[in-house]
Amino acid sequence: MTNIFLPYIDSLRKNHDLPCEFLVDLIERNDVESDLFSAADKVRREIYGTDVYIRGLIEFTSYCKNNCYYCGIRRDNKNAQRYRLSNNDIMICCREGYSLGYRTFVLQGGEDMFYTDSKICSIVYKIKSEYPDCAVTLSLGERSAESYKSFFKAGASRYLLRHETADEGHYRKLHPYEMSLENRKKCLFSLKEIGYQVGSGFMVGSPYQTIDNLISDIRFLQKLDPDMIGIGTYITHKDTPFSDRENGDIYLSLRIIAILRLMFPHALIPATTALGTVHPQGREMALKAGANVVMPNLSPINVRKKYALYDNKICTDEESAQCRECLEKRICDAGYRVVTSVGDVRRD
Ligand code: SAM
Ligand code: FES
Repeated sequence: MTNIFLPYIDSLRKNHDLPCEFLVDLIERNDVESDLFSAADKVRREIYGTDVYIRGLIEFTSYCKNNCYYCGIRRDNKNAQRYRLSNNDIMICCREGYSLGYRTFVLQGGEDMFYTDSKICSIVYKIKSEYPDCAVTLSLGERSAESYKSFFKAGASRYLLRHETADEGHYRKLHPYEMSLENRKKCLFSLKEIGYQVGSGFMVGSPYQTIDNLISDIRFLQKLDPDMIGIGTYITHKDTPFSDRENGDIYLSLRIIAILRLMFPHALIPATTALGTVHPQGREMALKAGANVVMPNLSPINVRKKYALYDNKICTDEESAQCRECLEKRICDAGYRVVTSVGDVRRD
């Protein structure tokens, strides 16, 4: 029997947009999945073929001045083990990553003011001088436009900052009063203006999230028009105020990924670690629903467990080479291929 939602899927593919009431159907209904995922996979293959870009993730600090209620490395989590990587540790990660074929290094961490602008600039500058053929992506949270400009000048060309939720009421339920959605959005627009390739996104299934919130998230992304969109399933951490909450739904996350692929055909969409944590095949399923990037961990093995954003995070026991090998196999088995180029967004 033909799926009655096929015309909506087709309209989303052609027009990259859909009225909210039809979007709601695609988000909510699991009987649209097989058609939705195959339409998204088709679009991704038209633009990126079977290529999957890899980014080496270096989680360089677990200190954070923020207190997001969902996050395992929030300031008030006294059980969190804190660490900072030295410049030398970071360069060792890059060296290993380069030899494994990575051409993008993502420096991610909590909002840790120990790393002043000049410290960040010198790390970025060092990586770019030793590996001029690699892109440096930063994911350090909210800083001033001046700081972002200085990192850009030092050689960083991409920045990941999920907006987390575009709805003010929902934002307030996930963050303490000293944090501001307005500032987060402002940061995203200044990053774009400076010239970064910008990644934004949100968690699916975060506490109190409603279908209207998800629609606002999608509408916000349409305004921002980011190069990368990171969608992770929300996963509970035992030492946060949300410790009694359920994890988000993997299938809902996959439907959102597929919708975003149809809406943003050229976007870089990672199959995130959170998806691989909530389901053993989560990342492969995300690739089949339109994702085209993976971000394996390059952090030193002795700190991996300390960067615990949520419980049971995968890939904390494997060496970088093992992660690389394991992912390559998973990607091939899913019918795609790892590409070791710098992997810029295709806008043609
Ligand atoms: N401090 C930077 C920032 O705020 O963008 C980067 C680090 S932050 C830990 C990276 C991402 O982890 C956040 O954008 C959030 O979406 C995700 N995250 C945090 N807690 C999570 C949880 N419990 N489940 C799933 N993802 C989570
Ligand atoms: Fe700062 Fe999560 S609260 S990284």
